[in-house]
Amino acid sequence: MHYPDLSTLNTRFGARGRIAFRAGENGLPIAALAGVTGSCEVSLYGGHVLSYRPAGHLPVLFMSKSSRFESGKPIRGGIPVCWPWFGPHPTDPTRPAHGFARIVPWRLAATEYTSRTTEIRLALDDTDPTCGGWPYRFSLTLRVALENALKVELTTRNTDTRPFTFSEALHSYFGVRQIMDVTVRGLEGTAFTDQVTGAAGCPQETPLVIRQEVDRVYADTEAECVIDDAGLERQIIVAKRGSRTTVVWNPWIDKAQRMPDFGDEEYTRMVCIETANVGANAITLAPGESHTLAATISADAKAE
Ligand code: BG6
Repeated sequence: MHYPDLSTLNTRFGARGRIAFRAGENGLPIAALAGVTGSCEVSLYGGHVLSYRPAGHLPVLFMSKSSRFESGKPIRGGIPVCWPWFGPHPTDPTRPAHGFARIVPWRLAATEYTSRTTEIRLALDDTDPTCGGWPYRFSLTLRVALENALKVELTTRNTDTRPFTFSEALHSYFGVRQIMDVTVRGLEGTAFTDQVTGAAGCPQETPLVIRQEVDRVYADTEAECVIDDAGLERQIIVAKRGSRTTVVWNPWIDKAQRMPDFGDEEYTRMVCIETANVGANAITLAPGESHTLAATISADAKAE
């Protein structure tokens, strides 16, 4: 699929001072949204939120300085959309990790602004040739809205004649000053599968601190998470709806060095808290049914 040219996007979907389109790296189109309470940027490539900044405060999302912005490669930071599988493909290791939605162009469906909201809706469906290989008809909508917080909603609709099952995640990367000064609250009492060791049913008894590679899938939790960043004196609050899994990820030292699109020291400045439905929490939709996965991200942030 080709992207519409920027002047067409600006004429049809732009709004002075609120919504503008520009070319990002390698010409990938980016929508810049401004609201009363903040701003954000969304890439049409991947349906990917690149940044979010509450008015007068520091940016909330992490973006790697080594990220690629190239067709066919995932963007390292912001909010990648993982769909319709999470992690490696269940049977075919040649398929892309975390599904195809994050590495294909999305269609711009609508923009809207009022005194309360500035928002954009992107769409992806099985008629797009880049989505070949998923054997079902589907339609996806991503709504990104700047309100008093950043709202991201991914709706999956089964337009097939057969039921299908999928996994999904809003793989959100959050920026922190120094990971050693960070505590993540909200997962106490929830068991997790440790994807580093392979151990299942591990207890999380206390708020989480990160002192090594962490790659954990917490199942059956609808809890809000709070990233307490003592270094920045701020809290990031990740609330969710339609999600029963939370994934926490930090690659730490060795894995960071192995990742070509991530700086060796950047693990100290990020943590992923992913709003998800994976494993036993995967979603099955009958024909005609739909499901919405939603994350609401806000920051009780120190002013600049
Ligand atoms: C996390 C997974 O969600 O994403 C990790 O739990 C994975 O296992 C990480 O390493 C990054 O994945 P990718 O495909 O973006 O490098």
